[in-house]
Amino acid sequence: MNEEKDTIILAFESSCDETSVALVKNGSEVLAQSTATQIKSHQRFGGVVPEVASRHHIEQIIGCLDDVFQETGLAYDDLSAIAVTYGPGLVGALLVGVSAAKAVAFAHGLPLVPVNHMAGHIYAARYSAPIEFPTLALLVSGGHTELVYMPKENEYQIIGETRDDACGEAFDKIGRVLGLNYPAGKEIDELAHQGKDTFNFPRAMEKEDNFDFSFSGLKSAFINTVHHADQIGEKLSQADLAASFQQSVVDVLSEKTLRALQKYPVKQLILAGGVAANSELRARLKEECSKLSGLALIEAPLKYCGDNAAMIGAAGYVAYKHGVRGDMSLNAEPGLEFSWLSE
Ligand code: KG4
Ligand code: ZN
Repeated sequence: MNEEKDTIILAFESSCDETSVALVKNGSEVLAQSTATQIKSHQRFGGVVPEVASRHHIEQIIGCLDDVFQETGLAYDDLSAIAVTYGPGLVGALLVGVSAAKAVAFAHGLPLVPVNHMAGHIYAARYSAPIEFPTLALLVSGGHTELVYMPKENEYQIIGETRDDACGEAFDKIGRVLGLNYPAGKEIDELAHQGKDTFNFPRAMEKEDNFDFSFSGLKSAFINTVHHADQIGEKLSQADLAASFQQSVVDVLSEKTLRALQKYPVKQLILAGGVAANSELRARLKEECSKLSGLALIEAPLKYCGDNAAMIGAAGYVAYKHGVRGDMSLNAEPGLEFSWLSE
């Protein structure tokens, strides 16, 4: 029977501006997912407003929960565990998911499994292919840019990260300068296809002997270029600006990732996080990985690149198998991190 064989996890994600609930079977099959996005409420502010986010999560989470049970016809008795993102993210936003998960776990006597949001992004790749270890993940989102080495399935070690802005954050900030709506990554990606890299913006830290990134210099160079043109009344091509910015980001991300692959030989490179949806980044890494024998590129499916609960269900399944448990004292940890592996 189902209960013996399958592990069904109810997963919650509410770390930023998406309220998402999913039912996931054996960490590899999404039975149902319901996601309420709040992007429209934040657009007029040009970024996520934490208090507005928390309020939306409170309003949406029960509806999302009802949706997944209605869609599948499952009941709480069918569940093995409750998984929830407890960090990193916005504290008020995280608390809504954590409180909901604790309430459900307590009321139905189910195990509670705390999940790191970034582990969720990595395990979104599980919906493309089974993950083989050791593996390396390039995690690029609105809040993080990290290279994460995983010697085993439940061990995460950061080997490099951004020293300033996250990659998606840089996309969003220059998008604002171009007059685009938040979040701007997707639109810049589309614009870039119509332009060329004519501005040759800096490739920060590209040649440095470490696996860290920096995007604030690129962002400043971009803003200075646009402001200078404004001052002298020159009209710059938005498409060329977008293409030049994107090219610089993709060059740096792929260069550093390739260098990390030399030091950490792995069978798979995982590309995950919201910016993993970038078509240029996907194409470049695909091309580079095809030149390295024995290395497969595993891209999280596009629909699971952004924040979603299915990825928390996939990572939650692994954590659950490894005995990771939370109790009723589980709290949100806005600054939660993986351990750091020094070079
Ligand atoms: O992972 P995510 O949904 O949320 C965080 O955990 O931060 O990532 C959102 C980020 C935003 O900054 C958005 O602009 C960026 O992902 N993004 C993209 C693309 N699609 C979304 N950036 C570049 N190219 C894209 N196609
Ligand atoms: Zn995220």
